[in-house]
Amino acid sequence: MSTAPLPAASGGASEPHHVAIIMDGNGRWAKARGLPRVAGHRRGADAVRRVVRGAGELGIPVLTLFAFSTENWARPPDEVSDLMGLLRHYLRSELDELRKNGARLRVIGNREGLAPDIVRDIAEAEKLTQGNNRIDVNICVNYGSRAEIVRAARALAQRVAAGELTADSIDENTFERELLTAGVPDPDLLIRTSGEQRISNFLLWQCAYSELVFVDTLWPDFGKEHLEQAVAEFRRRERRYGGVGS
Ligand code: FPP
Repeated sequence: MSTAPLPAASGGASEPHHVAIIMDGNGRWAKARGLPRVAGHRRGADAVRRVVRGAGELGIPVLTLFAFSTENWARPPDEVSDLMGLLRHYLRSELDELRKNGARLRVIGNREGLAPDIVRDIAEAEKLTQGNNRIDVNICVNYGSRAEIVRAARALAQRVAAGELTADSIDENTFERELLTAGVPDPDLLIRTSGEQRISNFLLWQCAYSELVFVDTLWPDFGKEHLEQAVAEFRRRERRYGGVGS
C-alpha cells in the first residue's frame, strides 16, 4: 500500500478513495432466524454482490472485503467447507456481474493454503477482469495481517542476506512493496458491521490512518444505503495524520 507523503491535514475529509470492510454478523443473522450459519453466509454473499454494485455507483474506486481470515480455519470443518464453496461459486458465477460493474477483481491472501481448484479459479477471474477499470474489488481470503507483515520482513531479510539491498536502505516504501497489498492505496475508510469494534488482524499496516466506522447492521442486511451512511460519516471526520488540523 502506498506510503507516499501524507496529504495535508484538512478541515473535512473528502471522498474516500479506498473503502475496506470487515463483513461481520452472518452467524448472528442466521441464528436470529433459527437458520443454520451457512444461510447467513449465503445471504452475506448476496450482500457482497449488492455492495460491489453500490460502491461502483457511488464512485468508490477501490473496495476491499475481508471474506476469510487465517484464523477462520479454526471454525467447524462444515462451516469452512461452506465458506470455500461460496467462494468457489462467487469466482465462477460472478464474472458477468463483475464485468457489468466494471470491476477488476484481485484476491489478497496466502494462496498456498487454498484448494488447487480455487487457486485456479482465482487466477482465471483475475485474468478475465483485469481490463475492467471502474472499481478495483479486492477480496481477502486466507488473509492475516501479522503473517503478511512477518512474510514481508522475511523477504527483506533474505534480500539483505543475498546482498541485494542493505538493512539501512529499508524504509516504509521498501516494506510496503513486500506486502500482499503492494500497489493498492491505503484504505481511507474501514467499516466493520455487526456492532463489533475490533480490527481482527485486518490490514494492520495499511489502516494506520484510516477512519474507522462501526455500524450495528449485520452484514447480510448491509447494502448501498449503509455504505452511503458510512461515507457520510467519513466526510464529517477531520483527518489530521498526526498534525494539528485546521
Ligand atoms: C463473519 O460473520 C463473516 C465471515 C467470517 C465470512 C464472510 C463471508 C461472506 C460474506 C460470504 C462469502 C464471501 C464471498 C466473497 C463469496 P460471522 O460468521 O463471524 O458472524 P457472527 O459473528 O455473527 O457469528
